[in-house]
Order: sequence, then structure tokens, then C-alpha cells
Amino acid sequence: MKIAIGCDHGGIVLKPAVEEVLKAKNIEIEDLGCYSTDSVDYPDYALKVAEEVSQGKADLGIILCGTGIGISIAANKVKGIRAGVAHDLFTAEMTKRHNNANILAMGGRVVSPELAAQMTKIWLETEFEGGRHTNRVNKITAIEQKYFK
Ligand code: RB5
Repeated sequence: MKIAIGCDHGGIVLKPAVEEVLKAKNIEIEDLGCYSTDSVDYPDYALKVAEEVSQGKADLGIILCGTGIGISIAANKVKGIRAGVAHDLFTAEMTKRHNNANILAMGGRVVSPELAAQMTKIWLETEFEGGRHTNRVNKITAIEQKYFK
């Protein structure tokens, strides 16, 4: 499995802890930046990760900004992307179990590196539940097909 990871200066604090989890699971990491705490624009990194996932070059993605909000909004503009922001273990699990999020977004000003690592782990280890949630996720795709030309 390969996971693309991207962040801005507000999220970079979480990257080492998240990467540690991926390495422990022998997951290939595609680190698309940023690489320092110099100020950058989160949509640039959202796009890099979202394109890798959307084009099937990465299986999943992890994106990090100050809150997880801006970078997820940007990633969700790319066709096929379901980026979910999580703030705790419950929301991290649910983004996969109910929403089948193919990108996990977290905020470096919201959660600690330790919590981000645990959230990454639970998100990776959770399966999409399917059932009634399949219909709902399909309806998200239908909205996408209506508005993405
Ligand atoms: C950058 O200061 C900050 O706005 C960004 O990291 C993120 O929180 C946006 O949603």
C-alpha cells in the first residue's frame, strides 16, 4: 500500500508521528511536502495529494494543516476524493467506517502528534461498513457527477 502525505506549515508538526505509524505498517510513503515551517498555501498540498489518490497513484492520502479544515475543503474539490476531517479517535474511525474517506485530514493546532498517530492507526485499521452507508456514499458520488464536468 502507498499513502501520499501533504501538509502546510500549520500541519507539519504532525508529520513525523504520522509517518512513524505508516513505517511501522510497512506502508510506502509519498511525501509531497511541505518540508519546513515556512508559510505556504494549503491548497497546493491538498491538490498534490488529492491528484495522487484520484489518479490511483496512491491508495490513500493524509493531509495536515492548522485545523484540517482548509486542506480538506481543497482536496474535496478533486473528483473522486472524500477527505474527512477528524479531531479524535471516534471521528477518525467514522471517516472510514461510514464515509469511506480516502483521505484523512487533521489539524496540527487541534490535535497532538501522539493523538494524530493513534487516529492514523485507527483510520487505517477500520474498514468501510458498507450496507446503508454504500447508498449514501454513492449519493455523494452522484452529486460529484452532476457538478464536476
Ligand atoms: C494557516 O495559517 C492555516 O490557515 C491553515 O493551516 C489551515 O488551518 C486552514 O484551514
